[in-house]
Amino acid sequence: MPEPTEMLPEETLDPEDWEAMRALGHRLLDDTFDYLKSLREQPAWRHAPREVKAHFEGPPPQDPTPAEEVYREYVRYILPYQMGNHHPRFWGWVAGNGTVMGMFAELLAAATDAICGVLSYNSNNYVELQVIDWCKTLLGYPAQAGGLLTSGCSAANIIGLAVARQARAGYDQRKKGLCGAPRPLTLYCSKEAHSSVQKAVELLGFGSEALRRIPVNASLQMDLAALRAALREDRAAGLHPICVVGGAGTTNTGAIDDLPGLADLCTEEGLWFHVDGAFGAWAAISPRYKHLVAGLERADSLAFDLHKWLYLPYPIGCILVRNAHEHRHAFSLTPTYLAHGKGKRGLTGVDVPWLADYGFELSRGFQALKAWMTIKEHGTAKYGRIIQQNIDQAQYLAGLVEAASELELALPVSLNVVCFRFVRPGLGEAALNQLNKEIEIELQEQGIAVPSVVRIKGRKYLHVAITNHRSRREDFDLLVREVIRIGKELA
Ligand SMILES: Cc1ncc(COP(=O)(O)O)c(C=O)c1O
Repeated sequence: MPEPTEMLPEETLDPEDWEAMRALGHRLLDDTFDYLKSLREQPAWRHAPREVKAHFEGPPPQDPTPAEEVYREYVRYILPYQMGNHHPRFWGWVAGNGTVMGMFAELLAAATDAICGVLSYNSNNYVELQVIDWCKTLLGYPAQAGGLLTSGCSAANIIGLAVARQARAGYDQRKKGLCGAPRPLTLYCSKEAHSSVQKAVELLGFGSEALRRIPVNASLQMDLAALRAALREDRAAGLHPICVVGGAGTTNTGAIDDLPGLADLCTEEGLWFHVDGAFGAWAAISPRYKHLVAGLERADSLAFDLHKWLYLPYPIGCILVRNAHEHRHAFSLTPTYLAHGKGKRGLTGVDVPWLADYGFELSRGFQALKAWMTIKEHGTAKYGRIIQQNIDQAQYLAGLVEAASELELALPVSLNVVCFRFVRPGLGEAALNQLNKEIEIELQEQGIAVPSVVRIKGRKYLHVAITNHRSRREDFDLLVREVIRIGKELA
């Protein structure tokens, strides 16, 4: 052991001057409020100039930088060049916008460096379990189901399909792995399913060929007759179908598979029914539109986000599994240093389940706090109204598109996603595809709005996914005006 005189002086990462740091904290919060209040007046997106990229090159900083200076760099080089999903006119891909209370919660969770999921006698676990219980109640899922908050729906899909694999493989898959399968296992989803489903299948070792992509009907829902035929063929070929993934709101068009039909089919065929309800699941809390996703409560596992259509700050998603025992059985693994349970006292005693037993991560942050605080602040009735507002706005936008001779809707709006394009008689499909891609880029680069582009049946359409609590009808009026203006200029 070194002599005390040889030891370095003790240090900490806490502020040397607490009062100066407090003042910086107050300023930072004030600036943030000014920024959020004036969002509507700011561009929806800004391209980061070359010097911004250059600013983030270089070696690790060996010497300290004053906290004020670090914050100034954030304001100068990071804040203005956000993706823009917090802006009222961001509708690209599918993204939420965050809430002020959620921002507070992130700060508070970081203040105690909060961990959640292990060491059961602490409030964080109670909060997460309550948020999971709220999700079950709101989505009509059984109270005794298992559940876990995740970093998003990709992670939730992985967990759901991992439980399906263990529950339906017909042997101890955790022990033997997939090479122990007497017959190759197969899974089924529609051609419109999100790429995260394929990623999950690949990560779980099934291989992407095991994921059968079933054709869709004219409304872009999975074709159930084609699914039945695929199951018959695969069984006849000696394969072992285990799971069907239904979609409650596809990314491209918001299409919702026939969930009651899929639930019936899975019951008849003895298959696990997983639903990817990344954003669409939340239509279940809109008073007027909940019928659209009826049937998702029959899923064996249900994956969804809270950072899209519950508008919570990234990241937060959730997986629910109807049979909590099967959920736990697929993941629980306790090393001796984490032994817990009956007879233990202190932090290792158990008064609620350890959430780490329900997923692949041990150390987990306190995602639950932002959900708990925001949902409490606003109440679920208001949430239901805002989700309904977004669906109404999608109908409103579709109406504007139909009323404009220069625009064309890709297909009737089924949820909160509107796909449309600018058309000009005489232009061929290739030229129209290019033109609409250009319109998307101009809208973004001029900072007007952020839609994305999707391809539907070979044609490119502007894609407006409304999971935005800040959007107003006037934003869609502006969008339509600007698409027509830019379209005419470019054409
Ligand atoms: C239908 C669908 N499923 C899954 C995901 C993946 O979710 P996340 O981005 O939260 O991982 C998305 C993302 O947009 C999605 O739209």
